[in-house]
Amino acid sequence: MPYKYYKDNREFIKALDEAGDLVTVEQEVDWDMEMGAIVRRVCEIKGPSPYFKNIKDYEGFEAFGAPLATYRKLAISLGLPPDTPIPEICAAYLERTESGKSYPPVIVDRADAPCKEVVITGDDVNLFDLPAPMVHGGDGGRYLSTWHMIVGKDPDTQDINWGMYRQMVFDEKTMVGPVLPFSDMGKMFHYKHVPRNEPMPFATVIGMDPLAGIAACAPASIPEDEFCGMLMGEGVEMVKCETSDLYVPAHAEIIIEGDILPGIELEEAPFGEYTGYRTSPREPRTVYRVRCITYRKKPIMPLSNMGVPTDEGQLLRSFSLGLEMEKLLKSQGIPITGVYMWPESTHHLVVIGTAHVYTGIAQQIANLIFGSKLGPWFHMAVVVDEETDIYNKDEVIHAISTRCHPIDGIHLYENHLGTPLNPFASPEERKKSKGSKVLFDCLFPRHWKESDKPIMVSFNKVYPEDVKEKVLSNWTNYGFKD
Ligand SMILES: Cc1cc2nc3c(=O)[nH]c(=O)nc-3n(C[C@H](O)[C@H](O)[C@H](O)COP(=O)(O)O)c2cc1C
Repeated sequence: MPYKYYKDNREFIKALDEAGDLVTVEQEVDWDMEMGAIVRRVCEIKGPSPYFKNIKDYEGFEAFGAPLATYRKLAISLGLPPDTPIPEICAAYLERTESGKSYPPVIVDRADAPCKEVVITGDDVNLFDLPAPMVHGGDGGRYLSTWHMIVGKDPDTQDINWGMYRQMVFDEKTMVGPVLPFSDMGKMFHYKHVPRNEPMPFATVIGMDPLAGIAACAPASIPEDEFCGMLMGEGVEMVKCETSDLYVPAHAEIIIEGDILPGIELEEAPFGEYTGYRTSPREPRTVYRVRCITYRKKPIMPLSNMGVPTDEGQLLRSFSLGLEMEKLLKSQGIPITGVYMWPESTHHLVVIGTAHVYTGIAQQIANLIFGSKLGPWFHMAVVVDEETDIYNKDEVIHAISTRCHPIDGIHLYENHLGTPLNPFASPEERKKSKGSKVLFDCLFPRHWKESDKPIMVSFNKVYPEDVKEKVLSNWTNYGFKD
């Protein structure tokens, strides 16, 4: 039985509307910063998604901002009630992706693929015919791909990769953007295609269904088309590209096909980034040459606006990085109770709950996660025991401030891999993707006698059960609200 999910952007927009998480903007909006500024403000106030019906200069196109920038929208995308608590959303992701069931993609005919309703090839291809927004003030150009996925295939293993790698429009048939060398597409392009001087076919999918977006964002260890099937509980419907043997989700809004070119780079950036800063300088970056564009009639282009929290990249990357870390630690037999990253940390800080069954467990956890595929993306690990609720910011701040010894509890990991986007890193460190890391071990030492361990003074800990029950059952009688 498939899970409840939305097959395309349009069904998802309708579901957001029904839940009260959408605002339909009929008034004309300008692609040159106005649309971006609206989405930025929506992210900062955690507001409903704007659905733009009328874009200046682009009759026949619509746009949809901040598609997944809150936990409510994430819950809806997974077919759960909008107010599902975060631990239950995490449990749904883990249940689906750890089920061991495989759902390969289902190939559909071209005639049954809405993304082929309009096909543009050859000289007619012009990226400026699509409503690429100037997302932020200060951006180095118009970014077409802000909430999208790029499909690629490993030339040796034939493994499929979906990932999000931003793309700026350079000219009518060219886009440009960074492809970090340790990302899955980076490994395919920089270490296979470039040395062989072979172009790499790509397909940029704009306006995929929300679960495909979650899959593309996730640092999954299996091909994302199958990962997406696991989230859906059935195979995702895919159709062959017009000009390559890549396959794309049949119900997506816009597809851009072409080659990533080895041996040439063009200037890209600056751009507002997920850290909440503009960090990358304008520099030569990876070039995408476009051969073909296909789209649905009246396409709806999603638009993410990266900046200070909370945008969908921060929310979904925090969500999936934490949960993929949880799987990794469990696979090593570490008795962890949960892993969580607050989106507000822009996936830089992770909290790990564990049973403190032996001395050194916090360092073991830190070594595993810092050294994993996920390592470059974050640099602060906080390890707490079962007394702290990892989803509760107040409790985690309290644990760091009271249980982490300023000398014995803080462990530095120098000269690790980081990203070139870390705002705290020096320009030199950024150039080299150097990232130091820190562990906050918030576990009281195991060798302390039970009587040496401070008792936590909280409602739950220091009152007898009968007193707590009496207080809770009389709460509203005392005059308090529930
Ligand atoms: C909105 C968004 C934009 C991103 N842009 C880039 C990018 O321009 N370059 C890059 O290398 N990674 C970028 N990332 C991170 C990759 O998407 C991420 O590494 C990939 O999707 C999944 O990880 P994997 O390739 O390690 O499996 C971005 C992520 C998000 C959510």
